[in-house]
Amino acid sequence: MKIAIGNDHAATDLKMEIMEYVKGLGHEVINFGTDGYESCNYPEFGEKVGRAVVSGEADCGILICGTGVGISMAANKVKGVRCGVCSDVTTAHLIKEHNNANIIAFGARIVGNELAKDIVKSYLEAEFLGGRHQKRIDMITEIEEKEYQ
Ligand code: RB5
Repeated sequence: MKIAIGNDHAATDLKMEIMEYVKGLGHEVINFGTDGYESCNYPEFGEKVGRAVVSGEADCGILICGTGVGISMAANKVKGVRCGVCSDVTTAHLIKEHNNANIIAFGARIVGNELAKDIVKSYLEAEFLGGRHQKRIDMITEIEEKEYQ
């Protein structure tokens, strides 16, 4: 898969490690995040990754900031993005299986590096289950349609 990754200054080291890890799993990575440590603004990276995923440039996305929250909020403003914050492997596969999340987010100040890798693996290996879950995704899309006319 082609994976878009983005991060702010709080997550540069973890982003580097996750990039190598994901490449090691056989995926291609497009890096939209900062590679530096100077204070910067997470919405920029959430938006870039969101747009890459929605346009089809990437199959899915990974976003990392201090908590994972701000960057996921920004990504979720891009029409078509379904991004969730995960701090455990169970949520990581369920956001794909039930919510068909096209971006996963987590916090570099919240999860350790090894857990972050397990979270990413759990998400990437999961498949959307469809069925009753599709109806709920459609309902989310309907809300979005009402907001973005
Ligand atoms: C940056 O200090 C921090 O606010 C940011 O990385 C993130 O945690 C926001 O949600």
